[in-house]
Parts: sequence; structure tokens; C-alpha cells
Amino acid sequence: MYFLPEELDNYVVAHSEDEPELLRQLTRETYQKILQPIMLSGPYQGRVLSMISKLTRPKNILELGTFTGYATLCLAEGVQKDGEVHTIDVNEELLDFQRKYFDKSEYGHQIFQHLGAATDIIPTLNKTFDLVFIDADKPNYVNYFHLIIDKLNPGGIIISDNVLWHGKVVEPLDPKDVSTKIVLEYNTLLKKDPRIETVLLPIRDGLTISRKR
Ligand SMILES: C[S@@+](CC[C@H](N)C(=O)[O-])C[C@H]1O[C@@H](n2cnc3c(N)ncnc32)[C@H](O)[C@@H]1O
Repeated sequence: MYFLPEELDNYVVAHSEDEPELLRQLTRETYQKILQPIMLSGPYQGRVLSMISKLTRPKNILELGTFTGYATLCLAEGVQKDGEVHTIDVNEELLDFQRKYFDKSEYGHQIFQHLGAATDIIPTLNKTFDLVFIDADKPNYVNYFHLIIDKLNPGGIIISDNVLWHGKVVEPLDPKDVSTKIVLEYNTLLKKDPRIETVLLPIRDGLTISRKR
């Protein structure tokens, strides 16, 4: 889905930073070997994540939904030298693939993989975070916010992916469509919660940046 006319969208991408070669390789192998490669953040959104991370220079980063590690590596580009990147995914089969690419990068020793449902893992993380990327299952987005907000440092950022949910947020709601219902609830929560300030950016499938006051 393009929010801009395709020609303009191509222009935007062409005049943004190119993705690093390692991420190109990761993308190629994801498309060769892994189901649903479309879940990758991709080159443009990846550069946006990298830029936000470099601008905010987080000490600790948390990602919900690692998949093959594309966004993990983009976020890691801005982490402080003594910082940590924690990333959670429920799919055990992805662990070796992720680790191979993490260790090919300069951030391998700073990236910690967690296997399991994010709702189970988050409460076990005895840390606070400066940057959180929410990109796992949509029905848990509201739960994720409530689990994370007290672990987010003042001035910390939550980036939430897929908040426009392929445009379904402005279509009539099918009562059986739990994901869209929760994404709608989530977007309202981000707008109204007084602990954060939020801007929703029409990047790819919708990317919200929320900053803790
Ligand atoms: C859209 S993909 C993440 C893409 C990745 N962040 C990127 O940008 O390349 C969503 C991931 O969330 C994981 N996931 C789904 N439900 C989950 C849950 N309850 N807890 C943790 N991870 C989950 C899936 O296994 C999948 O790998």
C-alpha cells in the first residue's frame, strides 16, 4: 500500500539513505528461506528506525517481534557503546537465523534474544528502556503498552508499527476482526494517555512515535 503516489514514494526512497549491505543479505535470505518475508520492516522503514535510534542514542532498547532481525539491527545502529538491545519473539525456529546476522554485525555482543510470548517475557526483564519498538501480534498491542509504560524512562520513545493496519482503521469494523478492533483501541490510547505525547506518521503501514513526558 502506498500513501503517496508510487512515483513520489519511489522518489522518497531514492533520496533516503541506502540500507547497509548486511541488511540486503538478510533480506535476500529471509525471502529464500522464511515464510511471510513481507513482515520485514524493509529498507525505507529500516532507515527511519535507524535514524530515530541515532537521534535518541538509547542505552537500552526493547523490540517486540524480532522476526529475522532486520529492525533489531536497524535499531542497534544508534545504541550506546555500553547499551543493550533486547528482542523478543515467540518463534523458536528463527533464533539461529537471527543470531547468524546479529553476529555478523558489530552489535552482536549487545543483542539479547528472548524466546517466548512477549506478555510473559516483558515482566521478567529487570531493566528500563529508552526506545521500544512494538511490532509483534496486534491483539496484544494494548497489553504491550500497559506492560511497557512503567519500564520506559522519562523522555523514552515507543515506536509502534502497523498502526494504520492496511487502511482498515478507517473502514467499517467487522466485529469478528479482533486485530483491527485492538489497533483502533491502541491508537486512541496513545492519543489520550497523559503520560506520553504522540505523532502518527504515515510511513509504510503507519508508524507512531510516542514520547514519555
Ligand atoms: C511483523 S514481524 C516482526 C518484524 C521485525 N520487527 C522486522 O521489522 O523485521 C512479527 C513477529 O512477531 C512475532 N510474534 C507474534 N506473536 C508474538 C508474541 N505473542 N510474542 C512475541 N512475538 C510474537 C512473530 O513470530 C513475528 O516474527
